Amino acid sequence: MKLLIWRNVKKLPFFSILDEFIILFNKAARYKYKQYQFPHVKAIYKQTNMTLIVSGTNRPNSNTLKIAKYYQKALAQKGEKATILSLTDLPQDLISGGYYGKTLEDFEPLQQQITKAHRFIFIIPEYNGSFPGILKLFIDACKFPVSFMDKKAALVGHSTGKYGNIRGIEHFTGVCNYIGLHVMPLKLHIPNIAFEINDDGDLFKEDTLKFTEMQMDKFLVF
Ligand SMILES: Cc1cc2nc3c(=O)[nH]c(=O)nc-3n(C[C@H](O)[C@H](O)[C@H](O)COP(=O)(O)O)c2cc1C
Repeated sequence: MKLLIWRNVKKLPFFSILDEFIILFNKAARYKYKQYQFPHVKAIYKQTNMTLIVSGTNRPNSNTLKIAKYYQKALAQKGEKATILSLTDLPQDLISGGYYGKTLEDFEPLQQQITKAHRFIFIIPEYNGSFPGILKLFIDACKFPVSFMDKKAALVGHSTGKYGNIRGIEHFTGVCNYIGLHVMPLKLHIPNIAFEINDDGDLFKEDTLKFTEMQMDKFLVF
């Protein structure tokens, strides 16, 4: 009898509201707990479907930026809007070392772009057998783990020499693995870069286009 009464009392609107409240409370508690366990979870909620192309040098008039713009154009033709972040836009103060452990105001707009992005394409020139130092400084300035953890990336290397920055791309893959960024297995290496870009700043060689197309198509479903 008591049970019957209790069952009916439980049907009252007050109790269903209480139920909803308890469910909500549990969800919030689980979310808080996840944040505690994995600080980047909070950042995942801030992510948008933004693809960020990182032009990996601060050298003025770089081939890297031309290739970044080419990728942006080619992705747009496939219906994917991508934004370019050029390392020429890094704040001067970054090099002074004053940023360690602090929030650098001038870096914040870039940090926000990185936090929002859910996937990246890094265009990386070969400098002395590896990737440019400024690219590592950029990674070091980005917040860890919220910037890259559990996100995805495609890598494109290029060089004057005949290896297309194979070694620099491998070095950078190691860094990506450390910061929790998943690297797409198909990495591109464009050698003899001086003969690869036409006057419009576009890649044009048939076999290069074949592989850039393949990489972009795979990236869009990665
Ligand atoms: C500082 C520096 C170091 C370079 N080291 C290499 C190298 O080790 N091997 C190579 O094949 N090309 C090397 N290059 C040539 C670049 O890889 C090539 O010109 C590339 O397209 C430059 O990219 P950027 O125009 O975006 O700076 C170097 C260029 C610079 C500026």
